[in-house]
Amino acid sequence: MSETTKFLLSEDQMPKDWYNIAADLPVPPPAPLHPATQQPIGPADLAPLFPMALIEQEVSTERRIEIPEPVREVLRLWRPSPLIRARRLEKALGTPAKIYFKYEGVSPAGSHKPNSAVPQAWYNGQAGVKKLATETGAGQWGSSLAFAGSLFGLDITIYQVRVSYDQKPYRRALMETYGARCVASPSNETQSGRAVLAQNPNHLGSLGIAISEAVEVAALNEDTKYALGSVLNHVLLHQTIIGEEAMLQLEMAGDDPDVVIGCTGGGSNFAGIAFPFIGMQLRGGASVKQRRIIAVEPAACPSLTRGKYAYDFGDTAHLTPLVKMHTLGSTFTPAGFHAGGLRYHGMAPLVSHVKELGLIEARAYHQTACFEAGVMFARAEGIVPAPEANHAVRCAIDEALRCKAEDRAKTILFNLSGHGHFDMAAYQNYLSGGLVDQDYDEGELAMALSGLPNVG
Ligand SMILES: Cc1ncc(COP(=O)(O)O)c(C=O)c1O
Repeated sequence: MSETTKFLLSEDQMPKDWYNIAADLPVPPPAPLHPATQQPIGPADLAPLFPMALIEQEVSTERRIEIPEPVREVLRLWRPSPLIRARRLEKALGTPAKIYFKYEGVSPAGSHKPNSAVPQAWYNGQAGVKKLATETGAGQWGSSLAFAGSLFGLDITIYQVRVSYDQKPYRRALMETYGARCVASPSNETQSGRAVLAQNPNHLGSLGIAISEAVEVAALNEDTKYALGSVLNHVLLHQTIIGEEAMLQLEMAGDDPDVVIGCTGGGSNFAGIAFPFIGMQLRGGASVKQRRIIAVEPAACPSLTRGKYAYDFGDTAHLTPLVKMHTLGSTFTPAGFHAGGLRYHGMAPLVSHVKELGLIEARAYHQTACFEAGVMFARAEGIVPAPEANHAVRCAIDEALRCKAEDRAKTILFNLSGHGHFDMAAYQNYLSGGLVDQDYDEGELAMALSGLPNVG
């Protein structure tokens, strides 16, 4: 049996195209709707926010979409990313299971987010766009777009959710090092931000509010477009390079996963690792191995496990189209727990759709259980995971322990979406016993859900 730990692809083995699950779905996902007319939106409705090349990807049903060479050239700075067999973790758990993780923390920003930031910045640059506005929760997406903007000469403004802006000053320093401007959200710079601050000057912020601010700036300024770090079809598409590489690497390892796991905020890293495997299942029919695919989310912001599958706005100020997704309601503000990148009220429409089709499972964990798993992983494998990624680590460990209890040697693959080097205050908090589990407020959830738009 091979004792190999890292399964590495050469640069010329990096996938040349992205995988689009829309080509293989048995039923197409419900169309996004215009909020005023409730009619399906067309490319022209999105044109003020995105360049046409990205809008085309958003609606494409082509199975394979070529990654442009200038994008591949940048991705080669850190891709292909390693697939690692977590032998020491397996030993520490005493499990017969094999655990593999795809490590996305090797990117310049420290997570999977540059996989989409780079193509988004490049397509905008090709369309002559000079300025981009965006939101960031954990600071990972903001850092990634700041990095991509610096490569292609774009001016980047980032609305960072207040709680994360305060928790992680060095993320802001990283964004500024790459040349971006970072603003705490809610801010006084936009109508959307001022409306929230008028009600609560100490508002912690949320991804929904930060999205409103960035969309507003893009909609009101001819020279500015908007970039989103998750949720949309084209973002999920760009992340499929993770799963495409993982398939090649598992082939090298002579293995095939029984369980595939990813954490879910807006759904992009989960889709990145999972969609290529789901696609293979969909194309192969009943003869292909059926894998369990698990999306893991925070118990304090449980859109997939507790949300309603309904049309809702992607942002708090209701500036975006209506999309059908698992949602907690667009005004829902989760508690200020440490996995800032998972504090979004909704889930990607494509991830929601595959959940409705019964193609994936969903699970929610509290943060102390996730940090416990993250610390165990760090002590066995050396890498300190981002708090978001700890949700996937927790699930992988639980699955491995289940294998131990049932004496079954399953193969588990999970996506380690980022490192936690900017999150050490959270680890300090956990290690000193100061971290508490937070639940969502049932009353607030009921109120947010009662405000869902009435779609006929
Ligand atoms: C390390 C990491 N993992 C996961 C996420 C969640 O985003 P998504 O669900 O789009 O992958 C984030 C978001 O900021 C993140 O920083």
